[in-house]
Amino acid sequence: MSDRSELISTGKPFSFDKKRDAAFEQLSKRYPTRESLILPALWLTQEQEGWVCQEAIAYIADRIGTFASKVYEAATFYTMYHLRPTGRYHICVCRTLSCWLRGKQEIVDYLRNELSLTPGMVSEDGRYSLEEVECLGHCGSAPVVQLNGEFHEDMDVEKLKALLASLQ
Ligand code: FES
Repeated sequence: MSDRSELISTGKPFSFDKKRDAAFEQLSKRYPTRESLILPALWLTQEQEGWVCQEAIAYIADRIGTFASKVYEAATFYTMYHLRPTGRYHICVCRTLSCWLRGKQEIVDYLRNELSLTPGMVSEDGRYSLEEVECLGHCGSAPVVQLNGEFHEDMDVEKLKALLASLQ
């Protein structure tokens, strides 16, 4: 998660399951060019596996009929694609200017000290993972945290504690 250039191999072949295969075929009819399918195909992969492995990149390129490097570029550029397994609760903390000025580091420090989370790692029990990401587009209500893709704005340590306590 912290190094977004490195892909992980599972050592096993990847393919869409029946549901994602059907969804991919449906999407194929809606997009003007095959390469426009790269982002939705990455989403389908992440929906199926929870993350995007090296074999999935090759598979998507093959299905689309493009170079694996093009799929790799998209997967490594957009931080919403997880390039390694995440915890059950995946926490993204924005590290860009507004969030940085308004206290993102206190949030990261809290997660580090209280939950032993470091960016890029999954907690030992698999419950949490942490990632520092670039601007999430909600700078007016910084600092911003995403929990499993859901936005939490104007965050501070107290709000984060309450949020984590509300999880099952
Ligand atoms: S700087 Fe954090 S949301 Fe834009």
